Amino acid sequence: MKNKLITLFMAAAVLLMPMMATASSGAHLYKAPIDINDKESLRRGAKAFGDYCYSCHAASFMRFNRIAKDLEMSEEDVRDMLIHTRGKKGAPAKIGDLMKVSMTADYAKNAFGTAVPDLSLAARARGADWVYTYLRNFYVDSYRPTGFNNTVFPDVGMPHVLWRLQGLQEPVYKTVMHGDVAVEEVEGFEQIQAGTLSRAEYDMFLGDLVNFMVYIAEPVQVERRSMGWKVLLFLIVLFGFAYALKKEYWKDVH
Ligand code: HEC
Repeated sequence: MKNKLITLFMAAAVLLMPMMATASSGAHLYKAPIDINDKESLRRGAKAFGDYCYSCHAASFMRFNRIAKDLEMSEEDVRDMLIHTRGKKGAPAKIGDLMKVSMTADYAKNAFGTAVPDLSLAARARGADWVYTYLRNFYVDSYRPTGFNNTVFPDVGMPHVLWRLQGLQEPVYKTVMHGDVAVEEVEGFEQIQAGTLSRAEYDMFLGDLVNFMVYIAEPVQVERRSMGWKVLLFLIVLFGFAYALKKEYWKDVH
């Protein structure tokens, strides 16, 4: 009994750990509007990923032709949208290739002071809301080499690659007491230069992009969900037959 309790306690601790880890980061996260069944949104997200992220970040668990199949796109469209990298021997990558990038770790270290992480699993490791908030919360900070900082990823090495779309925002600070120590924390933002997208359009753009990142983090979920419905439907029909059969068998007994 005691052993069982200990096991239960440890299991609960392991399950709660990721929650506690997220909670301790402190910053408020916005809810990402994720709908993995919305293929239109996933296709827009794939385009955004190809246009703005894929030059630096790989998604090397993913193949181009898998995207074509899952997102119901022609291979030609996927090629136009995503394949601007080089494969082996400098030839353009092929439709069956993994989504790697040409940038080397050394180059990235020189340019950004750090390696560029692979984004295959980012939405799962960080959570969709974190990624969504991260892409929303770049703010102007002249002390940073890129000119930008981020509330959920302080002193981030990534430049704000979407600033033309979002425009520029400056932080508004508030003073928070940590015991006796007064600390300045970012409370919100003030737009100092408009982007090409309105706020609502930018949020929608990010929603699609993060939706796509949630999809690449676990591509089978698109299939699994539709499979789930088929299985449920099958079980309902099977139940009907089984019930009819039971009635037939027991009809003489009653
Ligand atoms: C110019 C190169 C570059 C581009 C383009 C770029 N990033 Fe980044 N990104 C980086 C670098 C460098 C880091 C690592 C930052 C660090 O560790 O300080 C990073 C980090 C990240 C992280 C955090 C990963 C983690 O878990 O630590 C996410 C998420 C991310 N980028 C998403 C994106 C998305 C989405 C796009 C497209 C809109 C994008 N990035 C475009 C260079 C880039």
